[in-house]
Amino acid sequence: MNLISIRDLDKKEIEKILDLSEEMAAGKIKRKYDKILATLFFEPSTRTRLSFQAAALRLGMSYLDFSPETSSLKKGETFTDTIKVISGYADVLVIRHPKEGTARLAGDAIEKPVINGGDGGNQHPTQTLIDLFTIRKTKGKISNLNVSLLGDLKHARTMQSLVYALAMFGAKITLISPKGLELDPTLIKEVEEKFDAKIKTKSELSFNDADVLYVCRIQEERFADPYEAKRIKEQFMLKSEHLKNTKKDLVILSPLPKINEISHEIDANNKAKYFEQAHYGVPVRMAIIDYLLGRQTRN
Ligand code: CP
Repeated sequence: MNLISIRDLDKKEIEKILDLSEEMAAGKIKRKYDKILATLFFEPSTRTRLSFQAAALRLGMSYLDFSPETSSLKKGETFTDTIKVISGYADVLVIRHPKEGTARLAGDAIEKPVINGGDGGNQHPTQTLIDLFTIRKTKGKISNLNVSLLGDLKHARTMQSLVYALAMFGAKITLISPKGLELDPTLIKEVEEKFDAKIKTKSELSFNDADVLYVCRIQEERFADPYEAKRIKEQFMLKSEHLKNTKKDLVILSPLPKINEISHEIDANNKAKYFEQAHYGVPVRMAIIDYLLGRQTRN
């Protein structure tokens, strides 16, 4: 009933959500829900919060937007009590929180479906579904594609979820990160063992064999040392010159926001599909809500 981690879904379930997203995008699903979605964001967001709200409206639902700053949390009410109360006001809850495991905690505390809108550096499963949808839409498939993942692979929750899903779908993954920001080796071992994943690591910004280049920002807010984050941020940027010998049909994706990780001139390059990817947030999140509410009804 919850979507907390990408591990909560198997390949068949993901394919079902992607197919449903396709139908949502084409306006083929006319189902309307007399239900309420609550968005509870304890960290900043543009895409996840607003596209979930837009998705709810498009499904005929209403939404409540919880604001931690003006809530009774400020009087000392606990997170769990807050969630329990809101579960009586809404039918599905989307939670973003800086602390890993908070969405799971909420899911265990209430009976209503909980969707993880990002918990610390841990998981961002709905972003991954958007990423898979965009890859499938632009490349026609996911399996056997060469996918290069570039950026702060240590702290980015999008990458933790995406690596798992790409491995599940049989993509060939190349990891490129600034020194010290490498992906957790435990995750690499997990997907190699589970999915027989093909994972390479390199340091140079060359993407000649890549079909998809996925760039994530340096996650400054998760660094213990802000000066170290600033130093890496200033050095790290994808520029047009890095795209010179890339495949004609390379697709460049990013969960966004981009700060200075992608040079502005790349926006005009037709390989850049990250704004399109952000727009797919609405049909994919419509499909996720529909899938969870439908499953709840069937159960
Ligand atoms: N990709 C993403 O999660 O964006 P927001 O932080 O704006 O929601």
